[in-house]
Amino acid sequence: MQAKQITVFGGSGFLGRHAVRALAKEGWRIKVACRHPHRAFFLRPLGQVGQIAPIKCDVTNPDEVEAALHGSAAIVNLPGILYPRGQSFEEVHVTGADNVAQAAARLGIAAMVHVSAIGAGTESESRYARTKTEGETRIRAAFPAATILRPSIVFGPEDQFFNTFAALARFSPALPLIGGGHTRFQPVFVGDVAAAICAALGHPQAPGRTYELGGPTIYSFRELMQIVLRETGRKRLLVPLPFWLASFKAFFLQLAPKPLLTPDQVTLLRQDNVVAPTALTLADLGIRPTTVEAEVPAYLWRFRAKGEYADLAQGRAG
Ligand SMILES: NC(=O)c1ccc[n+]([C@@H]2O[C@H](COP(=O)([O-])OP(=O)(O)OC[C@H]3O[C@@H](n4cnc5c(N)ncnc54)[C@H](OP(=O)(O)O)[C@@H]3O)[C@@H](O)[C@H]2O)c1
Repeated sequence: MQAKQITVFGGSGFLGRHAVRALAKEGWRIKVACRHPHRAFFLRPLGQVGQIAPIKCDVTNPDEVEAALHGSAAIVNLPGILYPRGQSFEEVHVTGADNVAQAAARLGIAAMVHVSAIGAGTESESRYARTKTEGETRIRAAFPAATILRPSIVFGPEDQFFNTFAALARFSPALPLIGGGHTRFQPVFVGDVAAAICAALGHPQAPGRTYELGGPTIYSFRELMQIVLRETGRKRLLVPLPFWLASFKAFFLQLAPKPLLTPDQVTLLRQDNVVAPTALTLADLGIRPTTVEAEVPAYLWRFRAKGEYADLAQGRAG
């Protein structure tokens, strides 16, 4: 029997590459749909010959979305942006989600997993969160059986959180504690989010449900910065930066091609990013979450001044 085909929109990104690997292991034939398929070619060796095929598709284009879905039994919808560059939050999070859900309904696709974010569904002033909420609404309206996953910040070897602050600590004498560093996060391992995507596709209760995905521990922003400094072996000042001052700085930083911080992200940081007490979670999909301590040291060592075996070398010298 031929394996079933799935289309993974946004499969070349950080979460996408781990989702594609997990789906390939489960035997799916995978179309990886993104705007720059050449950036997804590195995924092909993760499956058997011909099992993973990158294709060009912009989710804001309904015709390309429909073409990307032909022959597929299921969908994973991942495209998301943290700041607008050539496309707006509305285009990717709302129009894109709407196009995918409408085409899925028209073509009679059996299953869909849509990745949103914790904070969606609340009345946030952040454009990122507001458009994620609107995206969820469009998905539910056109394809009620979709499973929606809302992760907290996702960590893993290619993440934009620990890696960015570890890189900053290399040359900056201080790390900023935005809003005093009190905002709480529940970082979730990228491998666990990928496992949740696979589990949702096979779980009889998952269709139509929303899950919030967090790791086993809640940390304040300050505690996360302390983890970065501990794992990179750096001593840096942790300097509280009030929200108003962070927004002012972000106003200028957002002009960079890949901004370190935007005013919208500062707005997001005003709210805790943790799993709601009543939410369905990873446990409801049969997944035991991985700790930050188990994974982060394995990829932050490269930011140490003297490399992976710095501690070992010190021990020998002593
Ligand atoms: N990373 C986190 O900490 C985190 C936390 C909570 C929620 N999420 C959500 O998880 C999802 C995946 O995040 P990520 O970190 O993996 O993002 P990412 O690394 O930036 O990947 C985004 C992917 O979407 C594709 N994409 C962007 N615009 C597109 C468009 N118009 N049409 C088709 N594909 C498009 C990109 O490829 P091309 O540029 O080639 O098109 C890329 O494959 C997002 O929805 C994000 O909001 C992430």
